[in-house]
Amino acid sequence: MSDATPTADSHVLIERPADFEGVLTIRFNRPEKKNAITSSMYHRMTAALENANSDDTIRAVAFLGTEGCFSAGNDMADFLAHAVSGSDEPPAAALFIRALALAEKPMVSGVDGLAIGIGTTLNLHCDLTIASSRSLFKTPFVDLALVPEAASSLLAPRVMGHQRAFAMLVAGEGFSADAAHEAGLVWKVVEPQAVEAETLALAAKLSAKPPQALKIARDLVRGPRDDVLARMDEELTHFSARLKSAEARAAFEAFMRR
Ligand code: COA
Repeated sequence: MSDATPTADSHVLIERPADFEGVLTIRFNRPEKKNAITSSMYHRMTAALENANSDDTIRAVAFLGTEGCFSAGNDMADFLAHAVSGSDEPPAAALFIRALALAEKPMVSGVDGLAIGIGTTLNLHCDLTIASSRSLFKTPFVDLALVPEAASSLLAPRVMGHQRAFAMLVAGEGFSADAAHEAGLVWKVVEPQAVEAETLALAAKLSAKPPQALKIARDLVRGPRDDVLARMDEELTHFSARLKSAEARAAFEAFMRR
């Protein structure tokens, strides 16, 4: 699978790099908007993950961004549109987040630079994350009058303990690459020019392992998904209500007016 057309589709590139057998890459590719993620981008990534589950030739998935930017998180214009419409439809992000929890192939991520909102919480679903030394992980959910998503309220305390999870998810404190590494969100910190090669090599290494044993081992290490899915539902109930709140709308409008 490969992108050629310069449409909204090209904002997420889904590729099978020839030199890395068995690897599917999902690349945020909207650098002019700091790789902010729109609904159509979420739908495209959801489909790619679901397809990967049933395609035996895909043995590992790698999330990548562009130079100096992984993702600035959910597109603020989309948030605002949702707030104004008052829609009860679950946001496209919710489907993507669910697909992350249900992904059956190992997932790695290569973060270089900004990782905001879901750009950070996505990594809690990745099995290994490589980050460049200039990366910044930040989730300003509460500042936007929102609440944590992607089961981060469950997974982050497990990974990094209450204090650091609270600092990140509730206080909205930024974490440098080293701080994220120390907190256990990141496996390895490398120089910016090495992120992509190291991430792809890691994914290829996983994809070369016996797939059935890899799947069982991964499932054992990750543990049951029921509590993750249940927490996603609980967060979504709050998140959807918050999205429509006057204080969230004011925060989105303030960003759009800057
Ligand atoms: N949604 C929509 N557009 C976004 C965006 C987002 N999440 N993040 C950045 N952009 C856009 C900016 O509006 C700007 O567009 P413009 O050139 O048409 O004005 C462009 O990307 C560049 O962003 P800019 O803010 O000028 O870059 P910066 O380096 O000064 O700051 C950020 C980068 C990421 C710190 C800042 O853009 C930001 O705080 N973005 C919002 C992040 C966020 O809160 N995400 C939601 C988390 S739940």
